[in-house]
Amino acid sequence: MLKDLLLNNKDWSKRRTVKDPNYFNKLADQQDPDYLWIGCSDSRVPANEIVGLAPGELFVHRNVANIAGPSDASCLSVLQYAVEALKVRHIIVCGHYGCGGVEAAVSGDRHGLIDHWLQPIRDVSDEIADELETLDTKRKRLDRLCEANVVAQARSVASNPIVQDAWRIGQAVSVHAWIYSIRDGLLHDLERSTSGFEDFARQFPTKKSSLIGVAGNLAK
Ligand code: CO
Repeated sequence: MLKDLLLNNKDWSKRRTVKDPNYFNKLADQQDPDYLWIGCSDSRVPANEIVGLAPGELFVHRNVANIAGPSDASCLSVLQYAVEALKVRHIIVCGHYGCGGVEAAVSGDRHGLIDHWLQPIRDVSDEIADELETLDTKRKRLDRLCEANVVAQARSVASNPIVQDAWRIGQAVSVHAWIYSIRDGLLHDLERSTSGFEDFARQFPTKKSSLIGVAGNLAK
């Protein structure tokens, strides 16, 4: 099986260079992606493929249940490099319906280390508990929680000092919340995009203290 992967790779490399003999030389010289993708590790959500982008066009960070917390050194390192060095124009936080991580977070069962990792999803579930109670099936509740988790993680990215510092110096970078359906292969924009402080305050009116300037003022 592993041999097959290496053979596939040889084929792939050959096909690329047949189309453009300089393909890998050009890629090796620099990467200049306009997009950062923060998505789930789920094997059914291959980031580049579903948005039709080639190598070099999408900077990618994936983890279980697309969590973009403020204390995850891996995610923060990716975010800082993407914003400050690569100067990406768009950060897409993308979740997906049927996310096993989201389901595990609220299943009530114990899974080990992942239960710590998934705590932010239980926080989101608490935030929208009233709304979840109005939904009559488990599937609808989990779908809604998948959406709410994406929005919460996009909010977390947009309130991150790395993104806010970029906005402060006038750098154009937007944060988007998208969700993908494994059942039909389609992406949906959850329409919570933020391109600056005003957008943030409008999209997340109860989270204003996430803006460092506002939180700082309270302590003066
Ligand atoms: Co998932």
